[in-house]
Amino acid sequence: MKKHNFSAGPCILPKKVLQKASESVINFNNDNLSLLEISHRSKPFVDVMEKARGLVRELLNIPKNYSILFLQGGASLEFLMAPYNLLTINGRCGYINTGVWSEKAIKEAKNLGETLIIGNSSDKNFNYIPKNINIPTDLDYLHYTSNNTIYGTQFKSSPETNNILVCDMSSDIFSQKIDVNKFGLIYAGAQKNMGPAGTTLVIVNNDILGKTGRNIPTMLDYSVHINKDSMFNTPPVFSIYVSMLTLEWLKNTGGVEEIEKINKNKAKMLYEEIDRNPLFKGFANNDDRSVMNVTFNLVENNLQEQFDLLCVKNGINGLKGHRSVGGYRASMYNALPISSVNYLIELMQKFEKKTWLKY
Ligand SMILES: Cc1ncc(COP(=O)(O)O)c(C=O)c1O
Repeated sequence: MKKHNFSAGPCILPKKVLQKASESVINFNNDNLSLLEISHRSKPFVDVMEKARGLVRELLNIPKNYSILFLQGGASLEFLMAPYNLLTINGRCGYINTGVWSEKAIKEAKNLGETLIIGNSSDKNFNYIPKNINIPTDLDYLHYTSNNTIYGTQFKSSPETNNILVCDMSSDIFSQKIDVNKFGLIYAGAQKNMGPAGTTLVIVNNDILGKTGRNIPTMLDYSVHINKDSMFNTPPVFSIYVSMLTLEWLKNTGGVEEIEKINKNKAKMLYEEIDRNPLFKGFANNDDRSVMNVTFNLVENNLQEQFDLLCVKNGINGLKGHRSVGGYRASMYNALPISSVNYLIELMQKFEKKTWLKY
């Protein structure tokens, strides 16, 4: 049975990428060696690393004074690395709290210094993005999460601030155009739009580093990784290689500008169906709806078993909502074809017709 993969992450990757990646596990570059058994310092792998870095720079139009790193530890380690590298010993930082991932980032910053929560949507289970926030002007940095994977909310523009802007873009990087110049630091786990789990992309403005007055543990120091071209220690070679293939796929698809149009169209179609179909209702505030993660619930909870069964029988994978929100979440990352969105919409319509008869 064909599967339609709405998983929130790890998630769908382009079929061609998976095909090429699997071939490279057996025979990389026609050299009769696996990608997994050659040195990360060998020319073939150094070429992969350079190509991956080059694609990130090209696709996001990254200025020269920014470094591009492929690290390990997931976005979760960046929650700690960001304050270690940017929060001065007597300084303070600000966070906008838009859900679980922001809260985890806040927890790590609090370990290192004064951390202000300057916007918070916890009063409504994070179903909206806080607006008109008063942002102090003396922060070492301001941190926010551009797309809230669990709740299906997304900032439509970055907060206006004169402070250094730090953004967790784990679940919407490469889905839309961004102006990197606005940010001091961007980080994202690979396992949504970039590739398989295992590496974390970090984009950092070199000019903001080395100013905290702290002793930074070696592995947490961005400057160490910059000086060693992300090869201070053995990098996650497979994840970086498949990320390179996925970025190449994105470039061939027309790049970020083109995928942004496709993504917006996919989201529009599904939100229209949720708003039209009397059996479903959206979770996130309309103005803050995410293009990547569409969260919705059944109006009548007692229909859940039937709808879940229909999904399983029809090859829908990964539609279950996060436990803190319940209901459903259709994650529609770059590699999800529009045909899968159409398929889900048709299924929701079939469910409506079938169920409607009983009322
Ligand atoms: C927005 C966001 N931030 C951070 C994380 C945590 O990432 P990791 O598992 O790579 O540490 C996730 C994971 O889903 C996420 O969606």
